[in-house]
Amino acid sequence: MRKKIVAGNWKMNKNLAETGVLISELKTTLEQSSDAEIIVAPTFTNLYYAFEELKGSDIKVAAQNMHQAEHGAFTGEISASMLKSVGIEIVILGHSERRAYFGETDELLLEKVKTALKHDMTIIFCFGEELEDRKSEKHFSVVETQLKNALFGLDAASWKNIVLAYEPVWAIGTGETASPEQAQEMHAFIRSTIAKAFNDSIAEEVSILYGGSVKPANAKEIFAKPDVDGGLIGGAALDAESFAAIVNAI
Ligand code: 13P
Repeated sequence: MRKKIVAGNWKMNKNLAETGVLISELKTTLEQSSDAEIIVAPTFTNLYYAFEELKGSDIKVAAQNMHQAEHGAFTGEISASMLKSVGIEIVILGHSERRAYFGETDELLLEKVKTALKHDMTIIFCFGEELEDRKSEKHFSVVETQLKNALFGLDAASWKNIVLAYEPVWAIGTGETASPEQAQEMHAFIRSTIAKAFNDSIAEEVSILYGGSVKPANAKEIFAKPDVDGGLIGGAALDAESFAAIVNAI
C-alpha cells in the first residue's frame, strides 16, 4: 500500500520566532495520529530548530531545496550532507518557483536528484504544466517530458526514495485549483507513464501528491480520488488549523 502524505511547503515565510509558534500549534492541533505521513518544510535557517522541536512527534521535516555538489565554492548554497547533519532526510526538488525564478532545468534537477539519492534522502519531486501548456493541450506531454528528463534514467531501486508532487503552475498561489477530475486524470496518466517506463509495481507504490491552492474546503474531494495520495500545501500550510483540517481530510 502506498503512503498517504500531506506536506506543507512554507516557502520563504516564517522567521525563527514565527516558526516556533507554528510548530507548537501544529504539535497540539495534530496531536491525534493521522493516516497520513505529515511533513513540514521550513526555510533553511529554521530547519535545525524545527527538527529538534519535532523530534519524537509524528511530523517530519523537509528542506525546500539543496545544491547538487557535495561541497565547494558555491556561495550561498546548501549541500545534502549539511542537511543530513542537522537531521534532514527529505528534500523538495524541482518546485516550479525554483524552475521559474532560479532557472532550474530538468538537467540540473537530474543532478540534484542523483546527489540526494547518493545520500539516501527522500525526494519530493515537483513538476507540472503552465497555463499555456494546458490551453494548448500539451499538459500531458509537458509532464511526461519533465518526468522523463529528471527521473526515467534512474534505476528501479531509486523509486523507493521518490515521492511525486504534481503541481500545475496555474494553480499555485492563484486560488484556482485543478478540479478533482483534472487531478485524477493527470495522476492516472503519471502512474501509467511510470508503469510503462519501469513496471506496474513501481507505479502502484509511488505516492503522487497534488499541489496548487489546496484548502480545507477542497482537500477532501481532491484526496478522495484514487490516484491522489495526498497534497503539497503552500499558503494553507502556514496556519495550523487549516493545515490540520487538510491533514484530516485524508
Ligand atoms: P499554494 O497551496 O499556496 O497554491 O502552493 C502550492 C505549492 O506551491 C506547494 O509547493
